[in-house]
Amino acid sequence: MGPRSVIRHRYDAVIVGAGGAGLIAALEASKRCRVAVVSKLHPSRSHTGTAQGGIGAALGNLETDNWQWHMFDTIKGSDYLADQDAVELMCQEAIEVVYDLEHMGLPFNRTPEGKIDQRRFGGHTKEFGKAPVRRSCYAADRTGHMILQTLYQQCIKQEVTFFDEFYLLDVLIQDGRCSGVVAWCIATGELHLFHAKAVLLATGGFGRMFSVTSNAHTLTGDGCAVLFQRGLPLEDMEFFQFHPTGIYKLGILITEGARGEGGILLNGKGERFMQRYAPTLMDLAPRDMISRAIYREIREGKGIEGKDYVYLDLTQLDPEIVEKKLPDITDFVRTYLGVDPIKNPIPVQPTAHYAMGGIPTNVHAQVVIDERQTPLSGLYAAGECACVSVHGANRLGTNSLVDIVVFGRRGGRSMAERLHALDWPTLPEDAVARTQETISHLCESRGEESVARIRTDLQQMMMLHVSVYRTERGLKEALAAILDLRDRYRRVSLQDRGLRFNTELQEALELGCLLDLAWVTTIAALSRTESRGAHFREDYPARDDVRWLKHSLANLREGEIVLSEKPVTISRFQPQERKY
Ligand code: FUM
Repeated sequence: MGPRSVIRHRYDAVIVGAGGAGLIAALEASKRCRVAVVSKLHPSRSHTGTAQGGIGAALGNLETDNWQWHMFDTIKGSDYLADQDAVELMCQEAIEVVYDLEHMGLPFNRTPEGKIDQRRFGGHTKEFGKAPVRRSCYAADRTGHMILQTLYQQCIKQEVTFFDEFYLLDVLIQDGRCSGVVAWCIATGELHLFHAKAVLLATGGFGRMFSVTSNAHTLTGDGCAVLFQRGLPLEDMEFFQFHPTGIYKLGILITEGARGEGGILLNGKGERFMQRYAPTLMDLAPRDMISRAIYREIREGKGIEGKDYVYLDLTQLDPEIVEKKLPDITDFVRTYLGVDPIKNPIPVQPTAHYAMGGIPTNVHAQVVIDERQTPLSGLYAAGECACVSVHGANRLGTNSLVDIVVFGRRGGRSMAERLHALDWPTLPEDAVARTQETISHLCESRGEESVARIRTDLQQMMMLHVSVYRTERGLKEALAAILDLRDRYRRVSLQDRGLRFNTELQEALELGCLLDLAWVTTIAALSRTESRGAHFREDYPARDDVRWLKHSLANLREGEIVLSEKPVTISRFQPQERKY
């Protein structure tokens, strides 16, 4: 039976998600208005906490650097699909926001003279591509964890109200205005209706659609899926990044910082194969190129012992550097593989890591609903769930943390600034009806399908056909399978039909989100008949700027996905061939 009681709340601003983007938005907004943060996890368990290697900012603490080089690298890394106005703001503001975090108490690693230390990272260069540069500001390999702890403490100090372990079920939109959200309290099973003048979604990515991923189990794209179901567009969904170094079979991230500190990739013949693919940057080339190179080596039988992995070798590094600067990954490898990375190379394979696409926004983090960038009043998004778009077709390492803090902060500010001009929006009469129906359907269904089986089938299919290499044939096969899985999902039944701490119900709701987002990803990938960044079509291996230098938008209309296009903003850097 679905939940009947509804608990009502009223806040000026409601933020959904308590990762870095949600927390910094809450911190900013709470300086001027009453803010609630609704999160499906306790904030300190949010996925930002797993970000390892650093946050990019052209501080120039160890060598000359400037934000224009950072801007150029980000745009080139994006395969020229990023919107350059947004990238410019991000690279400029990264510097200020890193110092703000430092002043809030974030324990960055330090140079001997006490400045924030910086390490190399993939695709970050000096003088527009000449050589790698030290740009990533880091706290060992726990940078995201430190950002999360720092921001959470500041939010507590600022008296932000938290609703922890509340699952987002609906975003209320009527007559072009957002009026709040509906969430399910996982502990009690009650529904909560949050009436708000402004809502910001910071619900993260959806890497769980793949079987090998660095993403936590919670990364199921709830915010993106809810808006998609509400008829809002999703942008650039065909671009999903595979990080080159996940622990073999497990997908757990081994930071690019390991290569920034001097680690190298080796194939089964002991060759440093990246020399052939990216002669200048080699192991510090962007992720799309390295992931493809690893797949290629494996296909040519040059994986380790001819199998489907390669080695990340840290054995030539000073053991003290490995222990001190990379303590977490060292621990992961020892714990999960029984391998000591100081003495032996680490078996790695590309792992699904980051969604470049998501909810379209402008640089104020306002959600926009069409190719003319029309904002939807009262609705904002920031972080991985959003697409502003600063990453285009391929994100550079360290730029996700930059994105969350720069655009999370911008979102928090712009919500608070615009609030005074807004009346309280009217709540729809049937504000919770849709939600109650969804939950009743799942709890009462007597179908024969299981959530776990459908999810496994989805993840394996996506890994096989919608990952690093794609073809029309494979994508069509994936699409047919996804439609079948969506059909099976309608017949899913739960063993636990209660509402309190019903993790089976939560997993069912999350699976619904993953199925929708996998559907959009596959349709968008099928439509884009070129290769760009992380989207590589073996049947269309070249980039085609004449036809495809465009963002894609996907809308749900009467049960079908309708694709359209949006122009890319190009200001300073014209598209060029991408060589590293
Ligand atoms: O490799 C890493 O530490 C991941 C960083 C990122 O995704 O930005």
